[in-house]
Amino acid sequence: PGAAGTTRAIERLGIPNTVVADGPAGLRINPTREGTFDTYYCTGFPVGTAIASSWDVALVEHMTKAMGNEVLEYGADVLLAPGMNIHRNPLCGRNFEYFSEDPLLSGKIAAAYVRGIQSNGVGTSIKHFAANNQETNRSDNDAVISTRALREIYLKNFEIAVRESSPWTVMSSYNKINGAFAQQSEDLLTKVLRDDWGYKGIVMTDWGNKAGTLAAVHAGNDLMEPGSDEEIARIVKGVQDGKLSEADLDRNVRNMLEYIVRTPRFNKYKYSDKPDLKAHAKAARSAATESMVLLKNDGSLPMKDVRKVALFGVSSVDFVAGGTGSGNVNKAYVVDMVQGLENAGFILDEDLKDFYKKYVDYVRVNRTASNEASTVMLGEAKVPEAELSRVYVDAQVKDNDAAIVILGRNSGEGADRKTENDFDLSSAERQLLSDVCNAFHLAGKKVIVVLNIGGVIETDSWKNLPDAILCAWQPGQEGGDAIADVLTGKVNPSGKLPMTFPIAFLDHPSSYNFPLGNEPKSNPFAAFFGGKSAPVKNVDFTNYEEGIWVGYRQFETKGVEVSYPFGYGLSYTSFSYSKPVVKAGKDGGITASVTVTNNGSVAGKEVVQIYVSAPVGGLEKPKMELKSFGKTGLLAPGASEVLTFEVSAYELASFNEKANQWETAAGTYDVLFGASVQDIRCSGKAVLKKPVTFAVSYAWL
Ligand code: BGC
Repeated sequence: PGAAGTTRAIERLGIPNTVVADGPAGLRINPTREGTFDTYYCTGFPVGTAIASSWDVALVEHMTKAMGNEVLEYGADVLLAPGMNIHRNPLCGRNFEYFSEDPLLSGKIAAAYVRGIQSNGVGTSIKHFAANNQETNRSDNDAVISTRALREIYLKNFEIAVRESSPWTVMSSYNKINGAFAQQSEDLLTKVLRDDWGYKGIVMTDWGNKAGTLAAVHAGNDLMEPGSDEEIARIVKGVQDGKLSEADLDRNVRNMLEYIVRTPRFNKYKYSDKPDLKAHAKAARSAATESMVLLKNDGSLPMKDVRKVALFGVSSVDFVAGGTGSGNVNKAYVVDMVQGLENAGFILDEDLKDFYKKYVDYVRVNRTASNEASTVMLGEAKVPEAELSRVYVDAQVKDNDAAIVILGRNSGEGADRKTENDFDLSSAERQLLSDVCNAFHLAGKKVIVVLNIGGVIETDSWKNLPDAILCAWQPGQEGGDAIADVLTGKVNPSGKLPMTFPIAFLDHPSSYNFPLGNEPKSNPFAAFFGGKSAPVKNVDFTNYEEGIWVGYRQFETKGVEVSYPFGYGLSYTSFSYSKPVVKAGKDGGITASVTVTNNGSVAGKEVVQIYVSAPVGGLEKPKMELKSFGKTGLLAPGASEVLTFEVSAYELASFNEKANQWETAAGTYDVLFGASVQDIRCSGKAVLKKPVTFAVSYAWL
């Protein structure tokens, strides 16, 4: 109960139904059932963006192994995850479910995620294939994208996941790509996915019943979800009328049967309904701590001589463990920021604590449908920040050793975020920040900001105010404890940003072609189109005019200043990089290694990023592109580790649309060892003697 869908049983043939359930941050089923007091809660793990910030494939695989065990032990067969669309723009409402603005990081994290879940003998569904980068009009929007940008950015991460983890299922997205519904595109679902990448599993549609069932079946959709009698009737009639070939159906039926025989349901697995939630909570907590990104620290973290804390912000109570919509998980509890800090031994200001609790309760109780209360899809709206008087803020200084301000954001399926009061801070949040900082700083006391967010917010205008900023993301049900682990220094933060934090929203070129929530319902120039309702920009269609210049590819190449660069994150210790070795590999690839040493006084882990600058002369390319990454183990002070990297010629290649092939130019490649895209610590060169090309089996027109 509560699972998103099933396949249909055919008892006559001994074929059982199989169960597919959401979603990326844990299994989503109903927590209670009629006729029993037993509960069926699942663990709420940190969201996709968080785990990508760990840059730690082993950690992700470990965490999803635990998540997949809940899929198995609650009797489901496939987890409808991971979500892995590219963070094209900061405002996409589902970015929290997704991983990164970079396809390599996204693909590698997704592959690790899939391997972890599938190690339990249950399946995954990588989604939403493809180019589902906005929620506004998501079921009909036409994403207009160049072939190169598709291949290099929007499909590349799926390609990596398919090749490196063989997901049981792929979910075809609602939107169109260049005029054709992704669910009905043979180019996408058969020629690219199967012929070019060698995919062997099944493809299922995202939830809906679009007209065009026959085109979807022909294109290579094996399973219509959630499925309807109407679609079955269309298929039967299509075959009878000769509009759908039986060969297409036979192919899909074979794929379905091959899927079904792998499932626990078919193999009569006796699930317990009793996964080890305690053990999984530990996995959720450690994944959350390892994923947090320390954005600023003037020495106030870890919190040492602090016992009494003034905790400000509605999100201390209205804490966001994860996003809304199908990405939500029915968890038994959430450790919020108040509980987390108290569990860690801090004494919270009772007056403030009491105020926020009552304020949040008051707002929730007094909501009406018209003032943005909850909807099933969008979940409960976030409580707006409370306005505190300066006198009240001042009064908190005397009895507390330090202040923490938590700022939260929530979003989810069905709607994109907005700039006002979402990407940008609200005026109440700004006031709170400046009042708390002024008041505490006057008394020589520190202020720490914790960001409880699922996607990028504006930071540049206020980041100079507090003494430290910790981006904790939406860290799952153990979030409060995980945040305390980092604030106290029990765990040294080692996450790095999987996307850029720009100075201004419009610094992203995609912002000029992204819905902002103020689009007209129909085109105001309809008169010029003979009175017909002409397509509305960013609603009916979205031009991906920026092409491949997504995220840091644009910021670094064009030299646009950012607030926090891609790959950025601080630690309580410091690392040096030495002895870089770079060599051309034998098949036109590159091998590299570097020694990382912990120079500081506490143990820590470091993420090393390999960026490559290609020689001039081939296709126009970004100044540098992420081609590999690795993370050290926990290095004690003074300890070193050698990290090695391999980049194949195929991974170095860019897509030449005219020649319809991947091309790796000959020449000298700069191989850069970065602590972030802007913090290159050392480098080497590799000379590739001959150009290498890779044919694709199909020209995408
Ligand atoms: C979402 C999918 C989800 C499915 C089933 C759809 O609306 O886009 O991500 O897996 O519903 O809940």
